[in-house]
Amino acid sequence: MEETQLILRTINFVKKELQDAEGGHDWFHIERVFNTSKLLLKYEEGNATVVKLAALLHDIADPKFHGGNENIGPETAKNFLESLSVDGQTIDHVVNIIKHMSFKNSLEKGTMFTSKELQIVQDADRLDAIGAIGIARAFNYGGFKNRELHNPDVPPNLNMSKEEYKKSKAPTINHFYEKLLLLKDKMNTKTGKKLAEERHQFMLNYLDQFYREWNGES
Ligand code: ADP
Ligand code: NI
Repeated sequence: MEETQLILRTINFVKKELQDAEGGHDWFHIERVFNTSKLLLKYEEGNATVVKLAALLHDIADPKFHGGNENIGPETAKNFLESLSVDGQTIDHVVNIIKHMSFKNSLEKGTMFTSKELQIVQDADRLDAIGAIGIARAFNYGGFKNRELHNPDVPPNLNMSKEEYKKSKAPTINHFYEKLLLLKDKMNTKTGKKLAEERHQFMLNYLDQFYREWNGES
């Protein structure tokens, strides 16, 4: 199948699969990661078809909403690509990216896999967690969990396990210090780092303004 056609079919499939997805991982998150991946491809070498397919399929079945099952996403992607007779090498690569995109997976499974294509899509996914969009997503998540915006009596805690972190009722501002402000140093590609730097600075400015308004100083 021609690439344009393959990508269009994949877009339609993902849109349909994510119809009822929650706000943080809806079709528009995928679209942003897809667009940012294409932007990164202008400056970073990588197999464009693999990057585009992986960007589109990377959140196809979030384990959080599938009883913790981490295999459903990669399997769904594999079955879909096989149904379109995509070549085996491309399928394997895309499936490996989806399996290993989350940091947790790549460490716990002991099967370190990486590739330039994975690095590009992972950077694009992380870029969507910072900057203006990242701020919107964080407060959206906090609202969904009924968390406080900020509470000066609850300091950020950088030593929580993943489990503790999920259960924590910490105010949303803490998420900036516990996760979002750390992402710029985790970027893989040169272009990703550059974009992250701008978005990072935007968050710092935002926090400055936030505290000024909080303290009645503005
Ligand atoms: P991903 O699937 O991208 O690894 P998550 O599912 O953990 O990330 O988070 C999705 C979005 O929700 C991200 O933008 C993230 O910053 C935000 N988020 C996750 N946990 C929190 C939290 N405790 N407080 C505020 N926002 C959060
Ligand atoms: Ni994602």
